[in-house]
Amino acid sequence: MNPRPCRLLAAICVALSPVFAARPPEIPVNYDEGKVPAYRLPDPLVAADGSAVREAAAWRKRRLELLEVFSREVYGRTPAGRPAGMHWETTSVDRAALGGKAVRKEITVWFTERKDGPRMHLLVYQPPGAAGAHRPRPAFLGYNYYGNQCVNADPGITLSQAWMRPNAEFKIVGNRATEGTRGVHASRWDIETVVARGYATATVYYGDLCEDRGEGVERDVGALFRTGSAEMRSPDAWGAIGIWAWGLSRALDVLAADPEIDASRVAVHGHSRLGKTALWAGAQDERFALVISNNSGCGGAALSMRVFGENVERINTSFPFWFARNFRAYNRREAGLPVDQHQLIALIAPRAVHVASAEDDRWADPRGEFLAARHAGPVYALLGRRGLGVADMPAVNQPVIGDGVAYHIRTGKHDITPYDWARYLDHADRVLRR
Ligand code: GCU
Repeated sequence: MNPRPCRLLAAICVALSPVFAARPPEIPVNYDEGKVPAYRLPDPLVAADGSAVREAAAWRKRRLELLEVFSREVYGRTPAGRPAGMHWETTSVDRAALGGKAVRKEITVWFTERKDGPRMHLLVYQPPGAAGAHRPRPAFLGYNYYGNQCVNADPGITLSQAWMRPNAEFKIVGNRATEGTRGVHASRWDIETVVARGYATATVYYGDLCEDRGEGVERDVGALFRTGSAEMRSPDAWGAIGIWAWGLSRALDVLAADPEIDASRVAVHGHSRLGKTALWAGAQDERFALVISNNSGCGGAALSMRVFGENVERINTSFPFWFARNFRAYNRREAGLPVDQHQLIALIAPRAVHVASAEDDRWADPRGEFLAARHAGPVYALLGRRGLGVADMPAVNQPVIGDGVAYHIRTGKHDITPYDWARYLDHADRVLRR
């Protein structure tokens, strides 16, 4: 066909599209501190029957109550434990990776007895040394966005074959990783530094568990648990964040079986949507000793009731498959939420949690992230810790590492930087080194 009339036709279609296309109504976003509505945060230490929670034993019960509400109303329900047929194999070990600075292991985990069923690929780096030469290492565990090969330029990492979101910057076209994606997120992982500080660091591509698109929840792990489609799931069924969080617990199962890793000293971390995921994983699975939320924002560390930056309606509209369908009932009704995100952080108590914001990341509401960390404090105090220990939001680049809860806000944009890693490592040195 002659390209000219083709282009003309396309131009006419674009010009007429506002007339014919049913455009969703604009969802307002507030960036004005003066327009934050008055809100009353639900008290983590008042049980559903109105009774005050005054001791650790009563908190155990209250904790289950809160987990139930977050499961039913926000993230959807998580199936218990690991599937019976789950098994794994170490597919490669290189004890002289990164120029001799690390040991690299790759492990494939199948969630059923079948080798053609849902699976994930775990990549682990740890400090060098012969097998069994050291006491088990503390470890960091987190998902990556573009396949394991994105975390370091190491040519020995197996290239992901999984579906992934297109990304022009990283030249991901046709939804598959290319050789060009090696190391594209190396600065977000800082693997050489983490390993040099004595930690193992493990990662999985989040799309192995659930593709980050609507169809994702009905495939792979979603299919294994008969989730159904994003729109037809039962209203309290899990969404992508629930599936990803479950996968972090399965990765921990695998790390726990490795005699070179100390599973009682594992930090789970994540950036942005994967920070939301790390918090939900850490809230549910008490084996995680430290939980790190990097710029997790709405549905993560940020208080929903402030309605600042991304709000519940916006997130449910852009990503209708991330949360339980029940969460949509709070679109433009944040004040009606039975829980808010300070209670999610409180579910981690008395284990360590680190919430981090970036100054220019207003979409994620840095102040809301700080306030949630702060208002988890009473639960930490009940369990014998001070929590964050400050009432006011610290200045940029002035981290507060409290007893149990830490918070920092750095200059710059939505990202994980070596500055963030330095803070996480300092925090880990305090709580994971014994
Ligand atoms: C979008 C989304 C956020 C999310 C972020 C990310 O901006 O609205 O909620 O945290 O993507 O994951 O990078």
